Amino acid sequence: MTYLVTGGAGFIGSNYIHYMLKKYGGAIRIINVDKLTYAGNLENLKDVEGLDNYRFVKADICDADKVRAIFESEEIDRVVHFAAESHVDRSISDPLVFVKTNVVGTAVLLEAAKAAWENADGSFKEGKKFLHVSTDEVYGSLSEDKNTFFYEDTPYSPHSPYSASKASSDMLVKAYMDTYNFPANITNCSNNYGPYQFPEKLIPLVINNCLNGKKIPVYGDGKNVRDWLYVEDHARGIDMVMEKGRLFETYNIGGHNEMQNIEIVKLIIKTLREFLPDTDKRKQRITEDLITYVGDRKGHDRRYAISPDKIKKEAGWEPETMFADGIRLSIKWYLENPEWMERVTSGDYQNYYSQMYGE
Ligand code: NAD
Ligand code: DAU
Repeated sequence: MTYLVTGGAGFIGSNYIHYMLKKYGGAIRIINVDKLTYAGNLENLKDVEGLDNYRFVKADICDADKVRAIFESEEIDRVVHFAAESHVDRSISDPLVFVKTNVVGTAVLLEAAKAAWENADGSFKEGKKFLHVSTDEVYGSLSEDKNTFFYEDTPYSPHSPYSASKASSDMLVKAYMDTYNFPANITNCSNNYGPYQFPEKLIPLVINNCLNGKKIPVYGDGKNVRDWLYVEDHARGIDMVMEKGRLFETYNIGGHNEMQNIEIVKLIIKTLREFLPDTDKRKQRITEDLITYVGDRKGHDRRYAISPDKIKKEAGWEPETMFADGIRLSIKWYLENPEWMERVTSGDYQNYYSQMYGE
């Protein structure tokens, strides 16, 4: 079984590749297609680099010729499409690259998969599937009423250029399913956290700032709510939808773990203080005094909360890592991998490709 994974050098993609190779070993083959933008880090995959059933291809998913060539040279059974520009703040200052990668890139992939998988009569070869990895942000923002959730049939109402581009990509996948019976699923997941997350996102940013005694920027009143999921639970959910999801269906993935941003920030400060010995000089600086309220994000969505009822009922998925454990695991990982953080924040990690591949 051959998987084409796009964006596999990013945060969720690299965790997914680790999860899949550990679970299925030599029974699967993974081709990881990634452009290696600032968010793509091949060091995340150092340990699988030499495996016979793993191959890396440096390519932009918007490059139709290259993408088509991959489908022509390999018998791809399954596509898991992660590649995207993923950071909301960046989309506010530079929206066009989001439209390009997230919308055009998805269209290019769909077209290449359709061309490779379609029979002469317009049906599709047995066993093929395209899984489009998307976000709960396409549904917009919820009120503070704790009984409201995003369901699969919640109308789309994206607000940021990022979520609008992801919503557009979802619509393209839906159009291929409706028009051509193209074999696909869409998953819409809530906020992920865990190892290998780029320190522009809230949790690794707070950990990194604490360890460096830097102020922690909290947007607005700090009471915006996100529904956090440990990244390995997301990887397992994607695998379960691939295996058990009904074709043409959408599945929401989320762990019923709503928290205000300020609660997360305070918990990270507390946990770091527990982990660090009194002799560690950094510990004295890690206090709530680092918290700094700054101007709000433009169009900041107030609350996200996912109902995972459908994936639970149809695929048997439930989160396995509770937040109290997951946040400790994550903080421990960042503490044990200071060189990863150092190389990511200094930009050094971007030299890894030329060292590895000599280009
Ligand atoms: P990320 O930014 O960490 O990684 C994105 C990866 O895509 C990087 O390796 C990057 O190099 C690659 N990429 C970007 N543009 C590309 C292009 N044009 N061609 C090929 N590769 C390209 O993102 P992430 O947080 O791992 O998110 C992965 C996917 O999951 C995205 O589609 C995102 O919308 C979705 N998602 C993320 C979250 C979350 O909390 N992070 C939650 C739900 C859904
Ligand atoms: O909900 C899923 C989405 O979660 C994914 O689709 C996105 O790819 C992913 O980046 C994430 O989006 P958010 O905007 O929710 O994540 P971020 O970590 O950027 O911000 C989380 C919350 O923390 C949000 O309310 C903004 C706030 N924040 C963020 C940063 C970076 C701060 O208060 N200060 C900060 O410095």
